[in-house]
Amino acid sequence: MTTILATADSMREQIRRSSKLKGRQPDAASLAEVEALIGARPPDGYRRDLLIEHLHCINDAYRCLRERHLVALAKLMNLAMAEVYEVATFYHHFDIIRGDREAPVLTIRVCSGLSCALAQGDELLQRLPALLGRTDLRIISTPCVGRCEQAPVAVVGQFPVAKATPDRVIAAVQANQSRHPTAADDGHWHAAQLSDPQVAAATRLETSLPNPSDTGSISPAYTGYASYRTLGGYALAASVAASLLGPDSETRVIQTLQTLDDSALRGLGGAGFQAGRKWRIVREQPGPRLMAVNIDEGEPGTFKDRTYLERDPHRFLEGMLIAAQIVGIESCYIYLRDEYHGCRAILETELARLHADPPCPLPHIELRRGAGAYICGEESAMIESIEGKRGEPRMRPPYIAQVGLFGRPTLEHNFETLYWVRDILERGAAWFSDAGRHGRRGLRSFSVSGRVRHPGVKLAPAGITLNELIGEYCGGMLEGHILYAYLPGGASGGIFPATLADVPLDFDTLQPHGGFIGSAAVIVLSQHDRARDAALNMMQFFAHESCGQCTPCRVGTAKAVQLMQAPIWDLETLEDLNTVMEDASICGLGQAAPNPVRCVQNYFAHEVR
Ligand SMILES: Cc1cc2nc3c(=O)[nH]c(=O)nc-3n(C[C@H](O)[C@H](O)[C@H](O)COP(=O)(O)O)c2cc1C
Ligand code: SF4
Ligand code: FES
Repeated sequence: MTTILATADSMREQIRRSSKLKGRQPDAASLAEVEALIGARPPDGYRRDLLIEHLHCINDAYRCLRERHLVALAKLMNLAMAEVYEVATFYHHFDIIRGDREAPVLTIRVCSGLSCALAQGDELLQRLPALLGRTDLRIISTPCVGRCEQAPVAVVGQFPVAKATPDRVIAAVQANQSRHPTAADDGHWHAAQLSDPQVAAATRLETSLPNPSDTGSISPAYTGYASYRTLGGYALAASVAASLLGPDSETRVIQTLQTLDDSALRGLGGAGFQAGRKWRIVREQPGPRLMAVNIDEGEPGTFKDRTYLERDPHRFLEGMLIAAQIVGIESCYIYLRDEYHGCRAILETELARLHADPPCPLPHIELRRGAGAYICGEESAMIESIEGKRGEPRMRPPYIAQVGLFGRPTLEHNFETLYWVRDILERGAAWFSDAGRHGRRGLRSFSVSGRVRHPGVKLAPAGITLNELIGEYCGGMLEGHILYAYLPGGASGGIFPATLADVPLDFDTLQPHGGFIGSAAVIVLSQHDRARDAALNMMQFFAHESCGQCTPCRVGTAKAVQLMQAPIWDLETLEDLNTVMEDASICGLGQAAPNPVRCVQNYFAHEVR
């Protein structure tokens, strides 16, 4: 019999507690500066998993990470400098500066995602440096920031400029507007209002998100804690908690899981795994069990989670609490992408209110901040990131339901999956499952952007076709644009021609055509666009965001970018790359990267011959 003496992590932790920092030593001033930001040393030392949070504190305060601060942080946390450095350099939002070079006064990020590129975002990026004429600013391109319905988007510090023009960006810079505006908490809104099939198309347009008459508010009023409770919020979570303490506890669990199964609720982060089944699997694992909530929303074209979160945060939190109660979860970690500064402020405020007046016993809840890495949306990479490490996906098995966060069984869910839990349990499974069209079941929140008249989040029946979605929910195509192609599932889901616009959009329906719906990020192209440009944009994104762990993905995506820039594609070499990326990549990024290329080869060959 083999006896396991220690895991690599536990040995590292042991060494960490006793070892001394090698190489460069910290100076007293830097130690004091870092300690002032991350707080005094707790009795049992700083938590290793909070490394990224600590890096954020320093990066926010100094607008960069200086080596002397990294050395001080390593010393305080008792980590090897290499460990701090490898994490700091992994995330795009940490700006490491050597020596005493000045940090930029402000960073302006211009989105280079496809929907922004269609709206001349690239031109904005090129023109801004000369127009601003300042050397103390840093103007860089950034992948999709999750506001594609407001394209093109620039972000001045933390202030998003919707439908950005040079004038608007310059005005924000001159007004020193670099913080996300605070939202009012007196809104009354929830997504299910949009689900009524009786609502006529015109009314539906008026109530769609964002409302076409509202020119891109970036801080809509949201339903705060008091309003949410007044409107009946948390009564369900309280009732589930009470039942679980009583003699009928097992019956309540069985009923809840059965309702979830009957509703056909599937994971809405992209993979579409049945929610009820996932809860059962994790519930069967030995405790303590943990939950990780995925609000990384990095898939280009996706903005549904932000849209709901910035209007109705407690519906999601109630879903999270119910999931925690039914599955027996001890701690919940909410991982929010760094770009969503407004949502972070809302969650901080509303979590504090929830804790101040809990409707039922609460699990331990932590809000974690991403740092600009798409790959951290992949569930195991997200877990690594919550543990304070580089966001590198893990090999499976073991699956995270068995061995996940901190080695514990973990229930991981997309924000929106949890958002629907309360409505499904209160209104009944059929309310959700009966909503589908063309033989499909459920509701889907399509993030629609590109060449349509009214882009936004469209809560529509699963199985709706693109033609129906554009006609009934988006007010048609933009003036002067005719449908040419569309991306049904962001960067990874492929590119389809207009001839496939009558295929039902749902999990499982697009695979036969070489794509998938993923997070339902629909980007619409017209006769003025080329599918090859869209595919190149996606491959550049993958090359930028590959975590670099596996060679086929790291090298293959970069090589494909080169090949796809040639007027005539070398199809044989591209297909070689496709095969090796698909077969030998650890995670979905590398496995799905060939999709846009193959779709161009299959459906738009005339563009690359
Ligand atoms: C490269 C990659 C990126 C992903 N990004 C996200 C993301 O931003 N948000 C999300 O919820 N799921 C994302 N996923 C899916 C997650 O791995 C996981 O399936 C999901 O969070 C599970 O929750 P669900 O069952 O509620 O969908 C991504 C997957 C891959 C392969
Ligand atoms: S496929 Fe790409 S992103 Fe995924 S683990 Fe490998 S290198 Fe990282
Ligand atoms: S916000 Fe620019 S493409 Fe999504």
